Amino acid sequence: MIEVGLVGYGKAGHAVAQVLRDDPELELCWIARHSAGATEDAGTPIVALADADWAPWLDAHPVDALVDFSKPESLHSYGEPLRQRRVSLVSAISAYRPQDLDYARTLGADTRVMCSPNITVGINFLMMAAKLLRQIAPFADVEILEQHFRDKPEVSGTARKIAQTLQVQDERITSLRLGGIVGHHEVIFGFPYQTVRLIHESIERRAFGTGAAFALKQLESCDNGFYTYDDLMMRLVRQELKAI
Ligand SMILES: NC(=O)c1ccc[n+]([C@@H]2O[C@H](COP(=O)([O-])OP(=O)(O)OC[C@H]3O[C@@H](n4cnc5c(N)ncnc54)[C@H](OP(=O)(O)O)[C@@H]3O)[C@@H](O)[C@H]2O)c1
Repeated sequence: MIEVGLVGYGKAGHAVAQVLRDDPELELCWIARHSAGATEDAGTPIVALADADWAPWLDAHPVDALVDFSKPESLHSYGEPLRQRRVSLVSAISAYRPQDLDYARTLGADTRVMCSPNITVGINFLMMAAKLLRQIAPFADVEILEQHFRDKPEVSGTARKIAQTLQVQDERITSLRLGGIVGHHEVIFGFPYQTVRLIHESIERRAFGTGAAFALKQLESCDNGFYTYDDLMMRLVRQELKAI
């Protein structure tokens, strides 16, 4: 059983807490947020922690791993207490600055750290599969289609990341804004006599929890170090290939 503390209790944190609590291999021990408010979520204690509270809190309420769905600055509040206690970290923060990521890498010298701005299993699998097909068929045309709810103003960061991974220009991204679509990403490979479409549909935020649970379980068997989601998936793929 992996004992987990969740940092962040906003839109994503609410959904992630449900998934972590329902997973039989995980125990969600507590949730930390910034401001005072609700004191429990379905029996899980919620606590407001200031920077100085982290070390005594972790001593009194030890966990094996933290899952972070809060803000970039939280990393600097719990970083050293986490390092000193060798607590693993799964961070989903999408907006780390380069210096935040540099700091997260230093934590990898003393514990296991995974940071990913895209934490769903599905999107990471799509990117891995698309990268592989791009290598196999560099001659195929590539287009990226992203569809989101009417009010999403910017081009999807995930679509940009897919473009970067496949080494195609952002001009190859087509964005559609329609009604209440949660998130649709599609990579289309145009071959001379065939077409391949890789599609991911987001249904709801609990997918972030499934992604975090996957990362927690994979990190368990890793050495100390800094990992991306890609690293964890490729590790599993290599193990599967060896078993064939
Ligand atoms: N990687 C992914 O795929 C993925 C997916 C979804 C979201 N995210 C990331 O997850 C984060 C949260 O997203 P959201 O939509 O849930 O945001 P949100 O609704 O604004 O919630 C943010 C939460 O973080 C807490 N918080 C802020 N500063 C904190 C601190 N210093 N220490 C502890 N907790 C702190 C807030 O506490 P209060 O409740 O007390 O205000 C709040 O509960 C964002 O960074 C986003 O980029 C990543």
